[in-house]
Amino acid sequence: MPFDVLLLPGDGIGGEVMGQAEAVIAFLNRTGLTDIRTEADLAGGTAYDRHGHPLGDATLARAQACGTVLFGAVGGEQWDHVPYHLRPEIGFMRLRKEMDLFANLRPAVCPPALAGASSLKPELVDGLDLMIVRELTGGVYFGEPKEIVTQENGRRRAVDTQVYDEDEIERIAYVAFRLAGERQGRLASVEKSNVMKSGLLWRQVVSRMQHDLYPQVELVHLLADNCAMQLVRRPKQFDVILADNLFGDMLSDVAAMAAGSLGMLPSASLGAPDAQGRLAALYEPVHGSAPDIAGKGIANPIAMIASLGMLLRHSMARHDLADALDRAIAAALATGTRTADVAGAGTPVGTTAMGAAIIAALAEELEAA
Ligand code: NAD
Ligand code: IPM
Ligand code: MN
Repeated sequence: MPFDVLLLPGDGIGGEVMGQAEAVIAFLNRTGLTDIRTEADLAGGTAYDRHGHPLGDATLARAQACGTVLFGAVGGEQWDHVPYHLRPEIGFMRLRKEMDLFANLRPAVCPPALAGASSLKPELVDGLDLMIVRELTGGVYFGEPKEIVTQENGRRRAVDTQVYDEDEIERIAYVAFRLAGERQGRLASVEKSNVMKSGLLWRQVVSRMQHDLYPQVELVHLLADNCAMQLVRRPKQFDVILADNLFGDMLSDVAAMAAGSLGMLPSASLGAPDAQGRLAALYEPVHGSAPDIAGKGIANPIAMIASLGMLLRHSMARHDLADALDRAIAAALATGTRTADVAGAGTPVGTTAMGAAIIAALAEELEAA
């Protein structure tokens, strides 16, 4: 039976990098190793321009019915001034919320060949392999009230509300504890319990879960500002980092630079399995639509291709292919084929050539297997 995936390339470089993920899918299907059936739809600013909405009801229904989405990126200056609820990013947040994709996994791995490409010293990042578990459907992104109101004195006041209930903290902490148990057994939980009530509750819930359920996992609590600093100071101290929606967003961009470039970081956003064991999931690069390089054909497609790798792993249980794809990415980089963001002093290649090099390396990996 074919495995159905909805492609939502989005805006800016979203379509450019999605093209390379599609090329990998076509290659895997050609070899007969997979039977992935794709359909594509509009999302973000491109959808707004066509239909007046960044996430139409029909697109949402399609995503929900399919259950597995491969997403590029959305947003751009031309949509920065549309009404708030019609912004590409807000449409995208609705998609995450409606699909209940609360668990966002953001691995930051530095392939040996890229140790010199990071803005950190090579010895600090060589062998880096950490996982950020970011809560994705709560916190200040969604808390109510969320508004700009004009006060009696005519001055405006903006409100965003950080809210977490115990259940929301527990369900994301379960994911982080389980992952830590399967990895090196170390979890760093991040909040600002020194100033935020939600941080206090977060710390209490995570501590209790460690005590009652996961005593074998070594738990440290870090204040979010310190965590950002530690990620730059000594990133390899981390195994799994658990953070709320906003802190997880910021920390993953920081971690990306330890891995060489924002163009390297994939992600998986997962829901809870339904009664039939079906897992709603969306896979996307951590980066955005990169308007500064869009249309130039120079974007790094690795975050997008590695996101497809996470789909093979988490939605299709094809760990063999996911592992082969990870090895192919490392092998292609090791030959010196690099896009501009990680090329250093070398001559950079474009998006398509990088994708082609990865597919060639994948063919070799699969032949050797
Ligand atoms: P961005 O991630 O798009 O870009 C930040 C910097 O990283 C830019 O200099 C860009 O050129 C570089 N970069 C990003 N991806 C790259 C790649 N694959 N290869 C090479 N370089 C890459 O962040 P931004 O500029 O702050 O945001 C641009 C737009 O994207 C905004 O509208 C923002 O809201 C949106 N955004 C969307 C998503 C998403 O759809 N998931 C994520 C982040 C930002
Ligand atoms: C991300 C992005 C999004 C976020 C935006 C586009 C809504 O920055 O996925 O990292 O803040 O979650
Ligand atoms: Mn982000």
